[in-house]
Amino acid sequence: MASCGIRTLMNVAVPRETAFNEARVALVPETVARLVKAGATVTVERGAGTRAAFPDDSYVQAGASIQDDPAALFGNADLVACVGRPADATLSAMRRGAAVLGLLAPLGDPQYVKLLAEAGVTALSMDAIPRITRAQSMDALSSQSNIAGYKAVLLAAVALPKFFPMLTTAAGTIPPAKALVLGAGVAGLQAIATARRLGAVVSAYDVRAAVKEQVQSLGATFLEVDLGVDAEGAGGYAKELTPEQIDKQRRFMVDAIGKSDVVVTTALVPGRPAPRLITEEAVAAMKPGSVIVDLAAEAGGNCALTKPGETFVTAGGVQILGEMNLPSTMPHHASQLYSRNVFALLGVIVKDNALHLDFDDEIARGTTIAHGGKIVHQPTLDALRETGAAS
Ligand code: NAI
Repeated sequence: MASCGIRTLMNVAVPRETAFNEARVALVPETVARLVKAGATVTVERGAGTRAAFPDDSYVQAGASIQDDPAALFGNADLVACVGRPADATLSAMRRGAAVLGLLAPLGDPQYVKLLAEAGVTALSMDAIPRITRAQSMDALSSQSNIAGYKAVLLAAVALPKFFPMLTTAAGTIPPAKALVLGAGVAGLQAIATARRLGAVVSAYDVRAAVKEQVQSLGATFLEVDLGVDAEGAGGYAKELTPEQIDKQRRFMVDAIGKSDVVVTTALVPGRPAPRLITEEAVAAMKPGSVIVDLAAEAGGNCALTKPGETFVTAGGVQILGEMNLPSTMPHHASQLYSRNVFALLGVIVKDNALHLDFDDEIARGTTIAHGGKIVHQPTLDALRETGAAS
């Protein structure tokens, strides 16, 4: 497909996020200064960085101007950089042909992409960036999952009525906590590393056999269940398992989960509900006081008893933390890393201070979900077709 430029002067807008549990900001002053140096004009909505500990003054010092009116901010922008989805009202203030960038989650809600296309905006989804080596510096899913994995273990350590490390004291010896991590992708590997640093004995499980060495290199034990296949699918992601494989996995899990003080679950399959790895039977096998942190809560949960966004204590005294949006609970560093991801992406899609999407480039093609009034993201089109709602 041919390349297409948009305008010649780049006005970048940074809104205040509107989701109730969102404390991050898309661009931090460090990145704003780099964009201004490169010739862009940057406007930041008043208070956009406050919850992430980036005050308005720090943006002004970086060369941005501050705007009070969100509709004016969106209306004057060539590119709006967001973390989550912008509010519908402000989206409709955007000019046709302007671009919006953020974690737009097209597969979770393909109908939303239809709205973006109808609004005539170019939509770039940070969670659609291909998982290829060249795109690692732009990989917001990784930078944010890393934070989620770290924070999940800290929450578990606070909730657990026990020590994580082994302690030898005058009053006797305390054995180390046993932690189990289900799903050893980016979040899972960080959870393993964090639990190890705190002194727990850690084991981990994933359907992708390729992660075994990574798990072991972090000092954890890799649990093996013979499912008869390696469930690694396209792009290094996991495939959905068959009902028989799920049943086999669950039966194995009851024993492993019952022996654990802490279970951190991170298992996800892109565009599908989270796999149910922890049954009620497995929760019942855990000791009172044990903790499950379900990082898949947003996708329905890996645990059958998870209540998304809530902490639930079972009759048997097991605490189930259905945490949502953990990266937002560490907003300063989460924003800093996300902002660097955005800057790295702009390095590929901005030329001569204008948006320049070369659809022959895998990164530009994979990241653009709507353009020129059309949905241009094949997985979204497939998802719409599946629901019979394709345009
Ligand atoms: P994810 O968030 O989609 O899933 C988390 C983990 O859950 C994965 O390791 C997956 O295999 C596992 N899982 C899924 N179903 C499961 C089940 N039924 N039982 C147990 N575990 C299950 O994965 P994430 O962390 O986003 O990484 C996906 C892949 O992308 C990995 O291969 C990773 O190495 C690769 N990657 C590549 C990057 C790049 O080159 N730019 C950057 C980051 C990740």
